[in-house]
Amino acid sequence: MSNNKISNWLIFKRLGQFVKPYKCIFIIGIICLSFVGTLMPSIITMVKPVMDIIFASSEVIVIPFLKYEIPRDAAVNFLALAIISLALLKGVFDFFSKYLMAYIGQHVTMDIRNRLFGHLVYQSLEYYSNNPTGQILSRITNDVKYLENSIVKIPARFVRDGLMLIILLGMIIFFNPKWALMTILGFLLIILPLVLFSKMLRNLGRKGQQRMADIYDFLSEKISGVRLVKSFSMEKEEQKEMEKANKRFISLVLKSEKIDAFQGAFIEFLAISGVALAIVTIGGAVIRDSVTPGDFFLLLGYIVALYTPAKNFAGLNQELQKSLAAAERIFEILDEKSPLVERSNLKILKDFNQSLEFRDVSYRYGDGDLVLKNININVPHGSIAAVVGPSGAGKSTLINLVPRFFDPVSGFIAIDGKDIREYTVRSLRKKIAMVMQDVILFNMSVKDNICYGLGEFSDDEVRKYAEAAYADMFIKQLPDGYDTIVGEKGVKLSGGQKQRISIARALIKDPEILILDEATSHLDTESEKLVQDALDLLMKNRTTLVIAHRLSTVRNADKIIVLEDGKVREEGRHEELLAIPGLYRRMFEMQSI
Ligand SMILES: Nc1ncnc2c1ncn2[C@@H]1O[C@H](COP(=O)(O)OP(=O)(O)OP(=O)(O)O)[C@@H](O)[C@H]1O
Ligand SMILES: [Mg+2]
Repeated sequence: MSNNKISNWLIFKRLGQFVKPYKCIFIIGIICLSFVGTLMPSIITMVKPVMDIIFASSEVIVIPFLKYEIPRDAAVNFLALAIISLALLKGVFDFFSKYLMAYIGQHVTMDIRNRLFGHLVYQSLEYYSNNPTGQILSRITNDVKYLENSIVKIPARFVRDGLMLIILLGMIIFFNPKWALMTILGFLLIILPLVLFSKMLRNLGRKGQQRMADIYDFLSEKISGVRLVKSFSMEKEEQKEMEKANKRFISLVLKSEKIDAFQGAFIEFLAISGVALAIVTIGGAVIRDSVTPGDFFLLLGYIVALYTPAKNFAGLNQELQKSLAAAERIFEILDEKSPLVERSNLKILKDFNQSLEFRDVSYRYGDGDLVLKNININVPHGSIAAVVGPSGAGKSTLINLVPRFFDPVSGFIAIDGKDIREYTVRSLRKKIAMVMQDVILFNMSVKDNICYGLGEFSDDEVRKYAEAAYADMFIKQLPDGYDTIVGEKGVKLSGGQKQRISIARALIKDPEILILDEATSHLDTESEKLVQDALDLLMKNRTTLVIAHRLSTVRNADKIIVLEDGKVREEGRHEELLAIPGLYRRMFEMQSI
């Protein structure tokens, strides 16, 4: 419990850090809110003199303190003008307080969204294998939205409604302590069930958030995997799943709507009964002549005016809990440390002259078994090392360690004898280009995809590299040539076309180290030949680590590493490995390299 309190306090402090850049606007907003909080009761207070004048028996009114006499109708006009002025002033402060708080709410949530994205793009790939996209999206959109709501509402409720409450109650106490006590008791009677209801609503709200996140999750998975859905004709079933998820969500929402509607009607009923009771009590006093009609309307005005701030104030806790829960979920992402920790004083990787080595490298995903066990590989500068082995042997894991998508759990990877962790990740990745099995393209033009992350290139340069990658010929035939938008993940292109774009990208990058996950499965003979030619050109004069499926690559490799079950089983040139009766020979005979 006490832990909980400390952490709530910490959450507040951290939220405060986000509001800090807008400190001045925040203070002005709070000042405006406090004016609204004070002006509202002042306007109601004006009712009393108006009523007293209207019901006065003499035709002239003596202004208190000044002892100056003015006619009754002039006094009423003057007071009406004063009420209009106060209302105008309140309107102005209301406008500024609302706009400024919304300004802060929008800016703070924008900063949080930016921070979240900034943090997420740096997260390791492992993070993404453990956290479904939909859940992450729901936090960036839903939870941040909640937070914005609260950032705007909480100070308003606390300052504006709090002030109104204090002033209105103070006024009633000033008039008649007994009535004040009755009012407070009456309000407690209304507020207490409100608090109970709000607890129920909060719980439902939290569950609703989770169910919405599940819907996001479902949507993002099924829409991005729509091919699979279609190929198994699962449209109907998935539609049913979606309906089920939606029903689960909506049943919760309706439950809370029911409570909300009931609470509204119930409270309204209590409030009106309370006002009727007040009319009877205070009206009786008017009849007994112990209270003027002005006082009657004033007190009634105070009591009616108390309702909204009292209700808002009672809901403050609910709002607070909601925003704390949302903030907690957001900070959970921000606190997720990237397992890739950069030490301080890192060097920039400039030269690479001798070798790329794996030294006793082991790796496991999470708490699983080791998928790489004491790997030792030496790839001399300028040579081609081919990695072959059965599916699940650990080949992709192995090559992903070089650009530090993951770090080994023991051992290290060295460039020219030095641990790559001694260099900045940026300078390391600058030296590496990867062409992977599943090419990732963004929904932008072919040209922008080729140049992604590499700076500005002229159209001629891009064309030159695309030609070298055997890509120019198909790009030219696309509807808008190099400006054709390729669709999300490049859906408008074929597998071989995507690969050739990614080869063009690697050629432009002109990396010293090339990492390839060759894939031939989805290429026909002709495009395989094109991709192969492009790759051969790409590999020239570079240090290449390639997961090889193509015979030509395997034959030309300076070294073949046969990986099985996370271990290096055999190592040597094609002819050398064929000479021994081992896994390589078996694989070669079955042509499943
Ligand atoms: N993100 C992950 N989380 C947990 N385990 C993983 C993850 N990725 C891969 N693995 C496991 O690690 C092992 C090696 O996988 P890896 O992808 O490196 O194999 P591979 O040799 O590239 O296979 P393939 O030839 O089929 O591509 C497999 O047993 C796999 O189940
Ligand atoms: Mg693989």
